[in-house]
Amino acid sequence: MINDKKVLFSGMQATGNLTIGNYLGALKNWITLSDEYECFYSVVDMHSITVRQNPAELRKRARKLLQIYIAAGLDPEKNCIYYQSHVSGHAELAWILNCFTYMGELNRMTQFKDKSAKHADNINAGLFTYPVLMAADILLYQADVVPVGIDQMQHLELTRDLAERFNNIYGDVFTVPEAYIGKVGAKIMSLQDPSKKMSKSDENPNASIYLMDDADTVARKCKRAVTDSEGVILYRDEQPGVKNLLDIYRACTGKSVEEVLKEFEGQGYGVLKTAVTESVNSVLQPLQARVAELEKDKGYVDSIIKNNAEKAQYYSNKTLRKVQKKIGFPERIR
Ligand code: TRP
Repeated sequence: MINDKKVLFSGMQATGNLTIGNYLGALKNWITLSDEYECFYSVVDMHSITVRQNPAELRKRARKLLQIYIAAGLDPEKNCIYYQSHVSGHAELAWILNCFTYMGELNRMTQFKDKSAKHADNINAGLFTYPVLMAADILLYQADVVPVGIDQMQHLELTRDLAERFNNIYGDVFTVPEAYIGKVGAKIMSLQDPSKKMSKSDENPNASIYLMDDADTVARKCKRAVTDSEGVILYRDEQPGVKNLLDIYRACTGKSVEEVLKEFEGQGYGVLKTAVTESVNSVLQPLQARVAELEKDKGYVDSIIKNNAEKAQYYSNKTLRKVQKKIGFPERIR
């Protein structure tokens, strides 16, 4: 607990461009949580280097992501928005937890298998121990809840196992975190293959709408979105392309399935696609304008970065000192 509130931790990688899927499925929910929880939202740049990065590009994207957090509506005075690499405790606790994690556990991680298949020329040890760093992120702040997508559930399970294992040996050190599955989190699928999740790393640029896409690009991508030959607008699994467009529309407008079905009754796909375009642009345009403002306000963003790194360092140090003491590291001389 911090300030009588439960603690929430989540993070995103600054690799690839964020899509409306990341926004509608995750970021938008985060905003609704900041009153109820003491929130830490990290730009997890240390996770990003498990795959080779261009340094200038990584730096640029990390700052952009941090600005997107703020632009999307996360108040940086209330939510601790910070870079993982600015807080030394992440690496320190990750090392300790590495010594409590079994090779077999990490071998089972499906994301490791996927990523090592994809980056066969660079299967580094960091890629293997990535879930341990993620566990350190979460346990460092004694997080009670962690909003994550289904693809991260296995990592969260490992985090819980590590916390329990540690607590069993040393007493109550870590809070055992729960997954927070959003109530309204829309799952947005690829526009080109609606059986796949919309992804920031999709090779087909028409498959994803990026948060920074301009209005014309959004229109073009929506126009090209895969539908079907049924010719009716119904909300059902047999029409995954149409269903996905309706989901995007619903998430952008806040309307219910019934409302949107009524709205599009008897209409063709062209009308639907135009409406989706407009709804997406009405969400993206203000967001982009706010990012542009933040980009100009370097002093303000820098002060957020500095203050929040200090706040994160403060809370993470509390946990780290406790852990170091428990495992028998010598006391610091003051
Ligand atoms: N691994 C997560 C992803 O790729 C990002 C992440 C890193 C994270 N540390 C975290 C998410 C801690 C939640 C909590 O999506």
